Amino acid sequence: MTIETSTIETKDDNKQTSSVVVEMQHLKKSFGDKEVLLDINLVMNKGENLVILGKSGTGKSVLIKCIVGLMEIDDGKLLLFGQDISELKAKELTELHRKIGFLFQSGALYDSMTVRENLEFPLRRQVTKVSKKEMDELVKEALENVGLSDTIDMTPSELSGGMRKRLGLARTLILKPEIMLYDEPSTGLDPITSKEISNLILEVQKKYHTSSIIITHDRECAKLTANRIIVIKDGVCAAEGSYAELVKSEDPWVRSFFE
Ligand SMILES: Nc1ncnc2c1ncn2[C@@H]1O[C@H](COP(=O)(O)OP(=O)(O)O)[C@@H](O)[C@H]1O
Ligand SMILES: [Mg+2]
Repeated sequence: MTIETSTIETKDDNKQTSSVVVEMQHLKKSFGDKEVLLDINLVMNKGENLVILGKSGTGKSVLIKCIVGLMEIDDGKLLLFGQDISELKAKELTELHRKIGFLFQSGALYDSMTVRENLEFPLRRQVTKVSKKEMDELVKEALENVGLSDTIDMTPSELSGGMRKRLGLARTLILKPEIMLYDEPSTGLDPITSKEISNLILEVQKKYHTSSIIITHDRECAKLTANRIIVIKDGVCAAEGSYAELVKSEDPWVRSFFE
């Protein structure tokens, strides 16, 4: 028990000295004959908001599903918190995956549960047990973070699309992930609600020093949230830069994302 604890502490120290939290080297992923990701090379730095752009069906969701462990990579390397995942035991990998939060396109809420129960659900599934008092406090804080304190006893079906999205975010954030993956966070929302979500993404970055990957089609969301943008085309990272840089790209195809 003592040994285990000290091992975990050492890992945390290592993580704090390394500034790269996700790294992909020549990553490949196919489905049968269909080659989706051919040669992806990217790094995400600690505390950074990295936006990924690309036309529909280019493998953006596949890419983040590989990071979160919902899909296995075919070839190349994937490093999480500086550790090559192919060298980890299943238990070690599960531990790393616990530090990663994933906001699904759908929000993945349970309509038969109240807002409170939806937020308690991930806490109850944790290895470390949380007391009732702690749980109440965490739920309260999570709802305050996303401006939904008044909805605690409602069910998700009584909420608007934007509120459901915020609840999905609160449910992911309640476990205090070090990496957040947002898959199309503003899809299906009106421009004002989309802007609220973008602002929440920024608040999360500031408050929890989270490193995030944001997949979006929404130019405004990219502009507001991105420290850096990567554009994926034909299975590779075709362009990279800040919003201001990519808007002025010499490549008309890259510019087309911002018109
Ligand atoms: N589980 C799967 N089985 C087979 N093909 C898949 C699977 N998931 C994704 N794909 C295919 O991979 C490609 C990229 O999908 P996706 O990552 O969802 O694209 P997007 O960039 O729009 O998020 C698509 O052609 C899709 O059909
Ligand atoms: Mg997708």
